[in-house]
Amino acid sequence: MKEIKRIAVFTSGGDAPGMNAAIRATVRNALNNDLHVYGIHRGYEGMIDGTIKRLETSDVSNIIHRGGTVLKTARSKRFMTPEGRRQAYENIILHDIDALIAIGGNGTFTGAMTFMQEYPDVPIIGIPGTIDNDLFGTDFSIGFDTAVNTAVQAVDKIRDTADSHNRLFFVEVMGRHSGFLALHTAIAGGAGGVLIPEEDSNIDDLVKLLKRGAKRAKLFSIVIVAEGNHMGTVYDIARLVEEKIEVFDDIKVSVIGHLQRGGSPSSFDRVLASVLGFGAVEALLEGKAGMMVGLRNNRIHHTTFDEAISKSKQFNKELLRMAHILAQ
Ligand code: F6P
Repeated sequence: MKEIKRIAVFTSGGDAPGMNAAIRATVRNALNNDLHVYGIHRGYEGMIDGTIKRLETSDVSNIIHRGGTVLKTARSKRFMTPEGRRQAYENIILHDIDALIAIGGNGTFTGAMTFMQEYPDVPIIGIPGTIDNDLFGTDFSIGFDTAVNTAVQAVDKIRDTADSHNRLFFVEVMGRHSGFLALHTAIAGGAGGVLIPEEDSNIDDLVKLLKRGAKRAKLFSIVIVAEGNHMGTVYDIARLVEEKIEVFDDIKVSVIGHLQRGGSPSSFDRVLASVLGFGAVEALLEGKAGMMVGLRNNRIHHTTFDEAISKSKQFNKELLRMAHILAQ
């Protein structure tokens, strides 16, 4: 087993609230094990450019409550090329770094897996950080809880104005390939409908559902739409529904967008990030590599990068069925 003395941590892909808490936990547990820790700026981009700096305990002070990522992040196109990865490897060797901790989502772990196939002498452990919560092998990823809370706060506010005007609102939340964020927002926000990529929905069923509610004197409604739903953009959906329904005074669209990615992490995300950051260092020291540290049934669970990105996370169909029933 390779002796690990110097590690580097980086964040990559879309930022997620709680990434800073994960960086903090990684750095503090690494120092506790007498390792040298480095921070790589802007994910794989920084690895290619060599923007790598030593981190001490004070560098991660006062960041646990901050959204975004102090290490910055990027979606690196250059790392998708063999030349980019070679350049990154050379920088890792130049800095005498023995192992890496990657905080991110699907794209981050795809990059990590390819890198490890080409350069197996640099073990990598991943920490799931994405508001999408779409990684197989962990019940929750860092940032999801905060993003749901942010979206629900927005929906609560929209509810006030929707109610006052008897309007139907379509609220788009993030999630290109997954509906976890939309489903949880819909349940917690008391929505009148939810459209997600995991389910084939159609306009007629949605119109029927909204009309049923209107018959029971429901004069306003809010439908949560995941950006990756199968029916088109939230504007297309609103237009199609408008052609078939007259019960509401007006139909409006609201896109929450990147608001969901920012803000101070919830206490749940801070604890999750601390547990996973701490656990990632332990995993490296135990000789694990090419794996994501996750949480399953409240216990640390290790999943290979391959599984984490290729297997689809079990969608809770019961929760979806319940959401549809409660929406009526
Ligand atoms: O993967 C996280 C995520 O926030 C998705 O929900 C969203 O579709 C995407 O990132 C947006 O990415 P970007 O900020 O690069 O436009």
